[in-house]
Amino acid sequence: MARKGIILAGGTGSRLYPATKALSKQLLPVYDKPMIYYPLTTLMLAGVREVLVITTPKDQESFQRLLGDGIAWGMSINYEIQNNPDGLVQSFLIGENFLDGEPVVLILGDNLFHGQALVQELKACDESLKGATLMAYPVRDPERYGVVEFDESRKVISIEEKPNFPKSRYAITGIYFYDSTVVERARKVQPSTRGELEITDLNQMYLNDGDLHVQIMSRGMAWLDTGTSDSLHEASSYIRTLEHRQGLKVGCPEEVAWRKGWIDDQQFETLASGLLRSGYGEYLLHILGKGELKLL
Ligand code: G1P
Repeated sequence: MARKGIILAGGTGSRLYPATKALSKQLLPVYDKPMIYYPLTTLMLAGVREVLVITTPKDQESFQRLLGDGIAWGMSINYEIQNNPDGLVQSFLIGENFLDGEPVVLILGDNLFHGQALVQELKACDESLKGATLMAYPVRDPERYGVVEFDESRKVISIEEKPNFPKSRYAITGIYFYDSTVVERARKVQPSTRGELEITDLNQMYLNDGDLHVQIMSRGMAWLDTGTSDSLHEASSYIRTLEHRQGLKVGCPEEVAWRKGWIDDQQFETLASGLLRSGYGEYLLHILGKGELKLL
């Protein structure tokens, strides 16, 4: 049974004003493609074909224009609205019908993961269908995130949301694997002092029940931040550097769908020919072996 996926692409993006005053943050480009392509392809690499995109009311149409119903990529992409940014846990209440009792992976629409081991690490998270599995990543500034503390055997001792005095350097990243009890648990979460339904409180419930697993992302992996103009610029530079050097794209849904066999050569070529005026379309033809630079 494949997990269903939710991408939360709500929020006001106010930390990036004025860039996000008229445009959703998750539609801003990270180098050569919209930010949401990265979390979307992360879900695809985890084998998720049925996705719910949760947006603000004003941005829903733009996301639909960009991603459509997913059929062209051999997927199903659905949409729901979050009226107010009342917390990440709301995703499961909004997505209750979509989930229909299935396990889920939630990814935040501004989270960018990259690295050789990504597929393998996603697979490991996906394996346990009971409980919750999160990913932790060591950062310089853990106080900006949910923070997880481990004992010597890497067992989770505590999790805290944006603590003033972090107990470890391990931030909880924005990808969360939950079992089918998530909706029932989400209903029990009470608003925090900042008025939000905090994902950390949901994770605390799993921890109390002995059902919380946290995997530490390996050292060579990148978990990039897009929360400020500087970090957004850095994320773009990172992608640009990799793509220029290798001539391979990161976060390209058409390519992932094709490599996974969700679409055939013909469908892939049709997608490419619709994009030929940009380097992106040319790239698609190249990897299909139709361009000047054939790749294996
Ligand atoms: C949210 C979560 C936090 C997590 C972070 C990852 O924070 O509340 O626990 O570490 O995402 O991106 P936010 O970015 O909504 O402040």
